[in-house]
Amino acid sequence: MARQSERPVGSLQIAPSILSADFADLAAAIRGVDPQTDRLHIDVMDGHFVPNLTVGPPVVASIRPVSSRFFDCHLMLTDPGEYLEAFAAAGADGCTVHVEVGDTRPLVDKARSLGLSIGLACNPDTPFEAVEPWLGDVDLVLCMTVFPGFAGQSFIEEVLGKVAAVRAAVDARGLAVDIQVDGGIDSTTAPRAVAAGANVLVAGSAIFDEASPLDAASALREAAQRR
Ligand code: DX5
Ligand code: ZN
Repeated sequence: MARQSERPVGSLQIAPSILSADFADLAAAIRGVDPQTDRLHIDVMDGHFVPNLTVGPPVVASIRPVSSRFFDCHLMLTDPGEYLEAFAAAGADGCTVHVEVGDTRPLVDKARSLGLSIGLACNPDTPFEAVEPWLGDVDLVLCMTVFPGFAGQSFIEEVLGKVAAVRAAVDARGLAVDIQVDGGIDSTTAPRAVAAGANVLVAGSAIFDEASPLDAASALREAAQRR
């Protein structure tokens, strides 16, 4: 399947997180939301950086033929550099690493050398100043709006100030950087995140826990556009 070209930087994007999908029928879940998917968010956890385990490169490779969308791998790993090559080979389009694990420069360089789009994530209690030096080097900044590890947690309102700070800095410098939020995003919180400056909305439970994930994703987009 031909890969779809990436959405324009700064455009509103809905990123369903497969963490909340039915893993016994992942292909059907992915196809079901495809018309409302701008990028597919794949949560990768190592049981070390976060207290949970999920999927790795073999699952990315298995679902690659199912979707032409941008595969956005959120690496909640202590050693993401060990796996970037495997994710690229499996068909990831972009990988997001956490600033808290350090080694940001070699991670960015390695991702670029592999042809990956690169994102930098920060936890809710990590300050803007930690990501600020890297804004000119990355394609995306992910401001976590929950502490990573599990779907279905409540949105942390206080992160919106950091989202606004990232947006102001990106715009002031004319940088081509997407701003993503992840955690507790639903039709109520999405418009607030967009108002603060986010343009890529990750949602797991608000999409896949609903009777019609496709309608839920569509409702999320409408809510975000209504703000
Ligand atoms: C949490 C993950 C999220 C999660 C979001 O650690 O990074 O992507 O799937 O789930 P919801 O949207 O249910 O908060
Ligand atoms: Zn995520």
